Amino acid sequence: MARTHADLRIVLDRTPGTPLHVQLAGALRAMMRAGALPAGERLPSSRVFAADLGVSRTVVTEAYQQLYAEGWLEGRHGSGTYVAEIGPHPATDGLATGAGLGAGGKKEGPIGRGEARRRGLVDLRPGGSWVGDYDVAAWKRAWRAAGEHGPGDDPDPRGLPVLRALLCEHLRRARGVVAGPENVVVTRGTGNGLDLVAALLATGRRAGVEDPGYARARGIFAARGAETVPCPVDDDGIVVDGLPDDLAVLYTTPAHQYPLGGRLPIARRERLLEWARRTGAFIVEDDYDAEFRYDVAPLPALYGLDPARVILLGTLSKTLSPDPGIGWIVAAPETADRIAALRGALVDRTSVPVQHAMATLLERGDLDRHLRRMRLEYARRRALVVEILGDRVTGDTAGLHVMVPVARERLGPLAEAALARGVLVDDTRRHTLGEHDNHGLVLGYATATVQDLRRGCAVLAALLADGHG
Ligand SMILES: Cc1ncc(COP(=O)(O)O)c(C=O)c1O
Repeated sequence: MARTHADLRIVLDRTPGTPLHVQLAGALRAMMRAGALPAGERLPSSRVFAADLGVSRTVVTEAYQQLYAEGWLEGRHGSGTYVAEIGPHPATDGLATGAGLGAGGKKEGPIGRGEARRRGLVDLRPGGSWVGDYDVAAWKRAWRAAGEHGPGDDPDPRGLPVLRALLCEHLRRARGVVAGPENVVVTRGTGNGLDLVAALLATGRRAGVEDPGYARARGIFAARGAETVPCPVDDDGIVVDGLPDDLAVLYTTPAHQYPLGGRLPIARRERLLEWARRTGAFIVEDDYDAEFRYDVAPLPALYGLDPARVILLGTLSKTLSPDPGIGWIVAAPETADRIAALRGALVDRTSVPVQHAMATLLERGDLDRHLRRMRLEYARRRALVVEILGDRVTGDTAGLHVMVPVARERLGPLAEAALARGVLVDDTRRHTLGEHDNHGLVLGYATATVQDLRRGCAVLAALLADGHG
């Protein structure tokens, strides 16, 4: 049974000031944070709640929408609005490595990668890269080279010209992108790039996000005051027909839809760009793991089809490691100019010594060599996952994660059973904004050792065979 407003004891202040939906969202957020509204609790329907509170239904739907966008609430097919199961502080923690469960099955905050290791857990959550095998000599050489440059006093918000030129060369070879240094802003990673784009283009406006889609993208738009709009995806990626006409931006992952794994076919790419040109929306292309493809060569980045409408976000987080904090935005020169100006205003920048080190890795071909080694490493790991989990696996032709479709209501018990056996998994609930039928486990195979990966997959295969999936 859903609670009623009387149970929730919410009092709204009707004198002019803070809008009622903001007050209502704030009151519900505070109750969820305090645990007074625990995960799994069903909230009243907007109609009943509005009547109880004596406000219009829009007040309740707007408050719910905001809390959905922040990750506090989740919808269940045909059955209402529930408090999401994502730990005590989803607005921030849910953006980290995924909420987890305590050893006894008790809910607590997300378990960090370091903590997972200390607790001897097999971490099959996506998001990281394999950092256990890198060229030590090349790495040290890069930092020595960075040390040759003394401290400066005027960092360029666009990034070092030499690194921008090298990135253009890398993007041309790896992603078929034709761009010059004037198109590039060197960021600290995709998160930083998306935050800048959101602040520039989406504050107070509507931002489309894939659903299911990258939870952090949704969180960043919400934190920048955008209204996030769930846009359906299917096995091929974002569904273009039916996209709203009033989006300021649309965030998408055409090379490898996150998390389902589809690759956007060329005909749909063309239709997507037609939609963007017709509506004036910007497309934000998150090209996070496009360097890793195991079947056919990757399609060139969407950016190349319309550099005026597409803003490409890239990162070294997958190709090398999230540790240095290096990524890039590629955009039309006027958009790059506006982003650089905004960066200046926000006093936001990318560490110059880190940029020097990364420039050396690129210049000497060390990054390319690393990439070639990692392609083999990940292809081996992906084959192992498929060998153990068989045809339950989908979305496995690219990237560093796969999907295992599982009905939504089974995900919680399955994740708990896996954790009880020492295996940490992530699933689509965290990456969901509205309602869809594409639920399942999202398994990353990059960060665990091969031995742990084998062990973790075997545990999951046994659980699934026992009817947990
Ligand atoms: C969809 C997606 N985009 C981007 C990234 C990388 O983000 P960043 O460069 O901020 O580390 C990830 C990492 O997990 C991701 O899953």
